[in-house]
Amino acid sequence: MDKKTINIALAGFGTVGTGLAKIIRENKSWIERRTGKRLVIKKILVRDLTKVRSFVPDPDARFTSNMDDLLMDKGIDIVVELMGGIEEAFTLIDSSLRSGKHVVTANKALLAEKGNELFALASEKKLGLYYEASVAGGIPIVQTLKDSLAGNKIKSITGILNGTANFILSEMTSKGLDFSTALNAAQENGYAEADPTLDIEGIDAAHKLTILIRLAHGADYPLGILPIQGISRVNAKDISLAGEFGYVLKLIAQVREKSEHLQAGIFPALLPCDHILAKVDGPFNSILLEGNAVGPIMLYGQGAGDLPTGSAVLSDIMSLAKDNSAIDNTGFKENILPKAQIVEPELAVYRHYFRMSALDKPGVLSAVSGVMGEHNISIAQAVQKPGPEGKNVPIVFLTHRAQLKSVYSALKVIDKFDFITAPTVHYRIL
Ligand SMILES: NC(=O)c1ccc[n+]([C@@H]2O[C@H](COP(=O)([O-])OP(=O)(O)OC[C@H]3O[C@@H](n4cnc5c(N)ncnc54)[C@H](OP(=O)(O)O)[C@@H]3O)[C@@H](O)[C@H]2O)c1
Repeated sequence: MDKKTINIALAGFGTVGTGLAKIIRENKSWIERRTGKRLVIKKILVRDLTKVRSFVPDPDARFTSNMDDLLMDKGIDIVVELMGGIEEAFTLIDSSLRSGKHVVTANKALLAEKGNELFALASEKKLGLYYEASVAGGIPIVQTLKDSLAGNKIKSITGILNGTANFILSEMTSKGLDFSTALNAAQENGYAEADPTLDIEGIDAAHKLTILIRLAHGADYPLGILPIQGISRVNAKDISLAGEFGYVLKLIAQVREKSEHLQAGIFPALLPCDHILAKVDGPFNSILLEGNAVGPIMLYGQGAGDLPTGSAVLSDIMSLAKDNSAIDNTGFKENILPKAQIVEPELAVYRHYFRMSALDKPGVLSAVSGVMGEHNISIAQAVQKPGPEGKNVPIVFLTHRAQLKSVYSALKVIDKFDFITAPTVHYRIL
């Protein structure tokens, strides 16, 4: 943009919108030194004009609750969508692009669901639709994949992409809490929403993974067919048993590339305690990448919060504000990305953890290991925890690498044995 002043319309003045406004004020001269531009927040769209705001924006900014005030204003260069939600955010972004304005957004849910449509429109209009803050808050993963690692074929991405889930699992691990107590702690500390469904059921991490897949592989993996398993059924018993074997449980988002085909999903998994992601605790996020040229790279930082997320939003605004900014929304030349070639999820191979609840009687171990053998699952360790004779006891198996399909078939048989008293708990091991 060749103007000296860049006018911004901020749609949303909650956690992230306020954080962004604070950084723009605090780092004003620094931003001018880097871009040669003055960033001015001209309009702020909110739902409730009567709400008392924790931060007072500069006098240039005018609050409105009418979206058209942003869209009709020809002086606005960039619309920054920080409202969240799908329908209204879509309308705002679509209309902003149609009225010739660049857009910056942090809205992963919208990009995961309707990104293709919006990227096609942005490309047709030759406008920016930037979204650094949509994945892992302050961690600069979008730019890293789009630019810094653009020459690499990305072989795998393994991430802890949801701070709420990671906080809950960390509390369960370090304090021995059960799931609901740890969830309450997350809510009390402001790490979980009143309705935590998106976070604890893995849906938020899935939104972010679909965005990463587009950036890393130039392909669209439809959200509707991405395998998603959250943490709401994680039992403190498994966290404690995993610890005894030297593992921690984490909610993992993963995509692996094999012969141009993608294997992806969100699932809780056991990580050896010396795994580089095992030490990512509390609300932090981390992403471990493997590029075919660069090798492994790990990014770590705050995946949410006003200033970290505001920092990512600001980086997009500054990129667009620079005179020499060449628009690059997806990191690929195609206007519409092709559908990903997908490996059937059940063909994925991992090591596995099983916890069976069984009656303590002779022949149990040999019957179970017999079924595993028939399904090509080789046992690495089996431990029966002591319990009162004849009563229910936990038996833990750690296996060598085996296909998920074999695991699911074996468990169907095992769980029908009359000595098995509850469905077997199964986690993958990374
Ligand atoms: N919070 C984080 O740490 C974080 C991290 C990464 C990404 N994100 C993403 O960033 C976006 C914003 O998150 P947030 O946490 O800042 O949300 P928030 O605190 O709930 O703030 C939302 C803001 O948008 C306004 N708003 C919502 N719907 C509106 C509508 N229909 N019309 C006009 N204004 C509307 C609200 O107005 P009122 O103030 O009047 O209610 C409020 O100012 C979301 O897409 C979120 O997923 C957030």
